[in-house]
Amino acid sequence: MATKLGPLVGAIDQGTSSTRFLVFNAETAELLSHHQVEIKQEFPREGWVEQDPKEILNSVYECVEKTCEKMKQLNINISNIRAIGVTNQRETTVVWDKTTGEPLYNAIVWLDLRTQSTVEHLLKKVPGRNKTFSKFKTGLPLSTYFSAVKLRWLLDNVEEIRKAVEDHRAMFGTIDSWLIWSLTGGKNGGIHCTDVTNASRTMLFNIHSLEWDPELCKFFDIPMEILPTVRSSSEIYGVMESGALTGVPISGCLGDQSAALVGQMCFQDGQAKNTYGTGCFLLCNTGQKSVFSEHGLITTIAYKMGKDKPTFYALEGSVAIAGAVVRWLRDNLGIAKTSQEVEKLAADVGTSYGCYFVPAFSGLYAPYWEPSARGIICGLTQFTNKNHIAFAALEAVCFQTREILDAMNKDCGIPLNQLQVDGGMTNNKILMQLQSDILCIPVVKPSMPETTALGAAMAAGAAEGVGVWSLNPGDLTAVTCERFEPQINPEESEYRYARWKKAVMKSMGWET
Ligand code: G3P
Repeated sequence: MATKLGPLVGAIDQGTSSTRFLVFNAETAELLSHHQVEIKQEFPREGWVEQDPKEILNSVYECVEKTCEKMKQLNINISNIRAIGVTNQRETTVVWDKTTGEPLYNAIVWLDLRTQSTVEHLLKKVPGRNKTFSKFKTGLPLSTYFSAVKLRWLLDNVEEIRKAVEDHRAMFGTIDSWLIWSLTGGKNGGIHCTDVTNASRTMLFNIHSLEWDPELCKFFDIPMEILPTVRSSSEIYGVMESGALTGVPISGCLGDQSAALVGQMCFQDGQAKNTYGTGCFLLCNTGQKSVFSEHGLITTIAYKMGKDKPTFYALEGSVAIAGAVVRWLRDNLGIAKTSQEVEKLAADVGTSYGCYFVPAFSGLYAPYWEPSARGIICGLTQFTNKNHIAFAALEAVCFQTREILDAMNKDCGIPLNQLQVDGGMTNNKILMQLQSDILCIPVVKPSMPETTALGAAMAAGAAEGVGVWSLNPGDLTAVTCERFEPQINPEESEYRYARWKKAVMKSMGWET
């Protein structure tokens, strides 16, 4: 007989490196079952990063089916799943044909650098070549990172897409849109939508009026009819049209960093979290007011939990390369077979021995926004070995976070006295200890690290018409945490940080 449980909520977590489907108990937030599939990244040319939208979609179907099978084996009734939330890698751009349901090109991944010349070309149209010309409208600088320039590249370079636009067959979307459209029926009536958090990463969206901005669409020369309808982060968008969960509403949608903010229960002004995935993203909730950075951070929409609910904003520090540097050591240098082995290599020496690694593979994002930066490893001696390089790679993730935290503290005025963390890399204890040492504040990690998926599940479960999850953090069972306290003295930490900054300066202007 199936185990008796209350309502359950599922979350599709489609990240840059993998796809997951997770099922939570809506009454306790307990994770009951999940399945994960790694996603291929293609690098067809230097600086280009692509993924196959069909592979991404199939990985979602596979994760849903496998999770449901696991639940059946655990005697959990899958008909208790009342809603599904979607959370996703942001900015990654897909264009597909609505009549065939087929993508018209690979997804251009957020990390991709091919649009450097597109950005240069667009900058010529801006008085004083001011990269932050739309800061007060979009919260973003003009950069290769955001979807608008990727879409512009696709329209300029892919004949099939140009043709599909002319024939009114083209649809644009970030990964959330592509998945929701496909899962709700695709060419047979799929819902073409996105949520405010994902829309706020395109550079085509006015984060105050919550509408696509005609002036920006004109600037980027994007036909507005290909854009999805923008909805809140918590409402019923449509229902699953196939598979084990046919008929279950999809009722939550948040970009992954917003979802992690929600999953970490950062609902108050001034609460912040840092997520270590492929990249690393520190978001601080600024409440219902948008705060604009003077120190290289961006302004983004944190969440809007229902059509008639207020919009919350966040200041964000985006770091392009975090987990990706470990993957690079594994796949490109082959110094370890698994990511865990990289941790072990670093742990065995416990120092970089003066070696600094700036993994600016995709230029540098916040706070520099310098696309011409490139990765460097410096401070090498005869003594340096792969262990030291592994340690320097982990230390780089921590130094980058320190740069973001410094900028955040300056913008917010009140320094954070501890850092809430989550994401795959937080299982790495060396990294977490190093992070605390380099920030000189405690680092706090929840015992349930799947906060991104949890945030999406919360949004889905709280949606009007679903109503199985209250967004009151007090309703959840107490979240237990692991704490890492600084163990080195601040002078030592400052000395290493100063050397890191020197290394960053060396990485800049490489590609000019
Ligand atoms: O903005 C990119 C971000 O959403 C990617 O997240 O977890 O795949 O590194 P992640």
